[in-house]
Amino acid sequence: MPPPFASRPRLETPRLHLAPANASDAQALQSLWNEPEVRKYLWDGEEVPLEKAREAVEAMNAGFREKGYGLWCVSLRHSGVLAGFCGLRGFGDAGAVELLFGLAPSRTGQGYATEAARAVLAHAFGACGLVEVWGRVDEPNARSAKLLERLGMSLRRTTAGKRHRLLEHAVAVADFRTA
Ligand SMILES: CC(C)(COP(=O)(O)OP(=O)(O)OC[C@H]1O[C@@H](n2cnc3c(N)ncnc32)[C@H](O)[C@@H]1OP(=O)(O)O)[C@@H](O)C(=O)NCCC(=O)NCCS
Repeated sequence: MPPPFASRPRLETPRLHLAPANASDAQALQSLWNEPEVRKYLWDGEEVPLEKAREAVEAMNAGFREKGYGLWCVSLRHSGVLAGFCGLRGFGDAGAVELLFGLAPSRTGQGYATEAARAVLAHAFGACGLVEVWGRVDEPNARSAKLLERLGMSLRRTTAGKRHRLLEHAVAVADFRTA
């Protein structure tokens, strides 16, 4: 039987192009993930070796085949420059799905992460048929929490994280703010 999602969806927004991450993107993503501001919360501050970046890309690639979502590289449409990443991945035992996002430090403060995340959520609630998406951020990660609120996410619970308390937000399809 063919997999339920045979294609790797490219997403477009007014300013951004989102392309499913390939093995060939692992090195660029590794550089991005190793930016101190990015790895601080995304990788618990630890350095990301290339092999680990490759494994992460590969694991999320499997998500595209099996579920229709994974990790997208976010590039600026006008220049093609890689600005960040955005993605969806499952977590926990109950089939929950969470949003991941991050920008190169030079690209923050311009609304790019929110724009990319809205496109990914629209895909999640549209083509993938999800009814709820989570956003889990370390308590001190105020910029990320603000971004989640812009998307219509609200705080559902607080749990113990590896280094910080984890603020677990979620948005149901009916509450998703597209603008
Ligand atoms: C999380 C992260 C992406 C947020 O970056 P950000 O720049 O605050 O988010 P956006 O790209 O959506 O930009 C929003 C800001 O741009 C401003 N902005 C400027 N021009 C804008 C425009 N044309 N349209 C929309 N917003 C614009 C907004 O007002 C907002 O600023 P404010 O928060 O001071 O009000 C960034 O801090 C990051 O990469 N962190 C590291 C990775 C991480 O922690 N990820 C979360 C774990 S999964």
